[in-house]
Amino acid sequence: MIIAFAGKGGVGKSTISSQVIKRLAEKELVLAVDADPNSNLGDKLGIQVFGTIGSVRNELVDDPDSVPASISKQEYIATKVMQTLSEGDNIDLLVMGRPEGKGCYCYVNDILKSCFQEMIPRYRVTVVDNEAGMEHISRGVLPKADVLVFVSDPTVTGIRTAARLSALADEIGMEVGRRVLVINNVPASYDGVPAPLREEAERLGLTEAVAVPHDDAVTESAMAGEEVRVPEGCPFSVAVAALTDSIAR
Ligand SMILES: Nc1ncnc2c1ncn2[C@@H]1O[C@H](COP(=O)(O)OP(=O)(O)OP(=O)(O)O)[C@@H](O)[C@H]1O
Ligand SMILES: [Mg+2]
Repeated sequence: MIIAFAGKGGVGKSTISSQVIKRLAEKELVLAVDADPNSNLGDKLGIQVFGTIGSVRNELVDDPDSVPASISKQEYIATKVMQTLSEGDNIDLLVMGRPEGKGCYCYVNDILKSCFQEMIPRYRVTVVDNEAGMEHISRGVLPKADVLVFVSDPTVTGIRTAARLSALADEIGMEVGRRVLVINNVPASYDGVPAPLREEAERLGLTEAVAVPHDDAVTESAMAGEEVRVPEGCPFSVAVAALTDSIAR
């Protein structure tokens, strides 16, 4: 199954998806995809990244003759990309990266698309951390999502942005199984989703909404280093654990 995270900039997509990935990886091998060219999912997971799809693309552009005559370019690229997978504990991380120089993203996106098709079937669960906005979704890079998770800040404006992203997924004909709205950074004084935000989300058709509280443990972790390290049992961890169990069932 494919679980994809989307949302506007800085709402907590990578922080939350990294913890969802770690929780899933306690039980099985997970394919994690960092589809953000300004990638930092590896840092958040504590996995060192050696290669990216962008670097494969650069190699091919620098030396087009490196493709052996015996196999198709597509197969060759897929093999190369497979070699760039970074490994963590029960986590295979695929990083999109970016082309160097003026290169356009289309080529990297095309590679990503064919790699998705090649690799996703090998794993029971794939988790994709997208860049802000819906670039990949609007370009059809991501074939489908069994669960599309929209992350929002705890504001009406944020909920409306999430609803627009959801509508965009429909417009481009993306196959979506389930949509889950995650309202992140909810003040700790609230128990669950604040009523006005739930009402707005329901009005806009996002009927499944969950709250993830603002948690100083996340702030402390971000001050101490790039890897997200939060104590088990802190409010953020509890909420993310419940989210994971709900979306990956
Ligand atoms: N529940 C939370 N409590 C406290 N801090 C949080 C919480 N969620 C996220 N943050 C902080 O918010 C910041 C942005 O988070 P993150 O990088 O995950 O967002 P993003 O949506 O992936 O951003 P981008 O669009 O740039 O990829 C980080 O510094 C993170 O530590
Ligand atoms: Mg991010």
